[in-house]
Amino acid sequence: MDNRPIGVFDSGLGGLTAVKELERVLPRESVVYFGDTGRVPYGTRSRETVRRYARQDMAFLAAHHVKAVLAACGTVSSTAADIGAGLPVPYFDVVGPTARAAASRTQRGIVGVIGTSATIHSGAYSRALRGLSPDLQVLAKPCPLFVPLVESGFVEPGDPVARLAAERYLAPLREAGADVLILGCTHYPILSQTIAQVMGPGVALVDSGREAALALAEGLEAAGLLCGPDVPRQAEYYVTDAPEGFDAIAELFLGHTVDARQIDIEAY
Ligand code: DGL
Repeated sequence: MDNRPIGVFDSGLGGLTAVKELERVLPRESVVYFGDTGRVPYGTRSRETVRRYARQDMAFLAAHHVKAVLAACGTVSSTAADIGAGLPVPYFDVVGPTARAAASRTQRGIVGVIGTSATIHSGAYSRALRGLSPDLQVLAKPCPLFVPLVESGFVEPGDPVARLAAERYLAPLREAGADVLILGCTHYPILSQTIAQVMGPGVALVDSGREAALALAEGLEAAGLLCGPDVPRQAEYYVTDAPEGFDAIAELFLGHTVDARQIDIEAY
């Protein structure tokens, strides 16, 4: 039993897709969420910069005495796969659980992967999928406009700007016959209704935030690290830019208010 909070980080709002799932499967667990809204996006930056940012993000969570860290960021997970190795607490990321879910759901053996430029160019998803099933056909495509669309609030289902971008990015994957689409950036499930409309009804969307949260829940349970029965749940949200925009979109997505606090990540 461990009553400390779970630490979750992302470059911005995307990791909330993991938090939403944690609220569903582990409703009593406390969470410390860190969104690096002052430095988002990570997905257009060099590997070295992403690693430096991720180390600071993890140091911030460690200072909050978390019992586990979830890198709820496809970019960190795919470009800095080893970054959690030195942590004194269990570390989880999105690539492995998401690839396993996708490989088990495809019927045709054609899997689409969308993510940031850094994630797609890392090849991490293609390697993970082919490692699970060498015959899979993997179609990977960066969708760099999706993160700024989410961070700017273009998140209503069917928003015409998001829809246009989705049509442009996703039409080739749809036409190539993908029957599973990995949302390999954790921001993308916030646009999932728009993405689903564009892909059509026969395509299963795999939410990387959700899959990572499920893997974390299983891992904590197996390690005996879930919280005790009488502990009140606490959720703290920290960001690196003015919190108002984050709070508004988080409320829309999570279905409850959040009250994020701004911190100086350079102190970590
Ligand atoms: N949520 C991050 C990811 O999963 C967003 C990437 C970004 O900051 O560009 O990759």
